[in-house]
Amino acid sequence: MQAFALALAVLSSLSIISLTPASAASGNDALLIERGKYLAQVAGCNDCHTPGYMQNEGKVPENLWLTGADVGFQGPWGTSYPVNLRLYMDKMSEAQWIARARQPMRPPMPWFNLREMSDKDLLALYRYIRFLGPAGDPAPVAVAPGQPVATPYVEFVPKNLPLGKQASR
Ligand code: HEC
Repeated sequence: MQAFALALAVLSSLSIISLTPASAASGNDALLIERGKYLAQVAGCNDCHTPGYMQNEGKVPENLWLTGADVGFQGPWGTSYPVNLRLYMDKMSEAQWIARARQPMRPPMPWFNLREMSDKDLLALYRYIRFLGPAGDPAPVAVAPGQPVATPYVEFVPKNLPLGKQASR
């Protein structure tokens, strides 16, 4: 009887051990996904990477979030397009993302803001975008300066600068 009780105790402690990490991980995952959604909203990722987000004051269905934009941003760097992050993350591992997020990107992508994000926040963004899943079409490929541009674009060049500042821009 004692042996039976001991066996039961061992079994139940084993099942606790095997259950705990799994349930902790899924709780943690849900928190990370929630955090990622929050970051996509407050760190401005939707502003450029979600079609119509700025024009509609953020009222865009979540299933369209971060699917990229086909209106370019033109400046001395050429013409760049906010990539479709739903397709982008789908092809990338967490480690690749964390490394890529800290490297320069073309303007007006505020890559230096990503550079300052903690690994945990970068991971949260990644998990959220993977949670949304792949959707939409790839954004147009960036166009080099001076090359013809086939899509609509926004000219991102400061105008009407005071004389002394023009040469330095
Ligand atoms: C002001 C507009 C703007 C905002 C805000 C913005 N992006 Fe971007 N993003 C762009 C543009 C434009 C590109 C394309 C840059 C290029 O061609 O190198 C880009 C590119 C990227 C890329 C792809 C880089 C690559 O490997 O080619 C990632 C990833 C990305 N953005 C993530 C984010 C995240 C995450 C946020 C929010 C924290 C964000 N972006 C906010 C405009 C923006």
